[in-house]
Amino acid sequence: MKQRTFTMLKPDAVKRRLTGEILARFEKRGLKIVAAKTLMISDDLAKTHYGEHSDKPFFGDLISYITSGPVFAMVLEGDDVISMVRKMVGATNPKEAAVGTIRGDYAIDTGRNIVHASDSEESAEREINLFFDESEFCDYELPD
Ligand code: CMP
Repeated sequence: MKQRTFTMLKPDAVKRRLTGEILARFEKRGLKIVAAKTLMISDDLAKTHYGEHSDKPFFGDLISYITSGPVFAMVLEGDDVISMVRKMVGATNPKEAAVGTIRGDYAIDTGRNIVHASDSEESAEREINLFFDESEFCDYELPD
């Protein structure tokens, strides 16, 4: 089933200049980038995006970290892309993430786990709408 998912490279990924390497993984897998941008997340946007974690002990650290530098936000499109990207990203705790996944290859700390990816169709829709306007999407065909 054709789907869209929201994926965001966090400030540690951007500052470590891993953006190109990680994007290449998604492109080589055959996923289509239909929207993308670098931005600084506002405090309000961070709190809305991570609202489900607002009562967690790490919430304050999560918000100050995600607003501490630029993120690279994108919308990826492809067949069953939501679960595929989650598999490519790996477990939330990078120490538990399989080697070969993005977190398993580039991260060691849960609070600095390189990348965020939507975990369901509902969160994908919510997160895409939070970060992107309709005018920011590109409609194009990939070659066979
Ligand atoms: P992400 O997939 O972006 O979604 C929620 C984020 O909260 C998660 O990645 C982690 O970066 C962060 N997080 C989850 N659990 C913890 C934890 N125990 N300590 C610190 N940060 C956490």
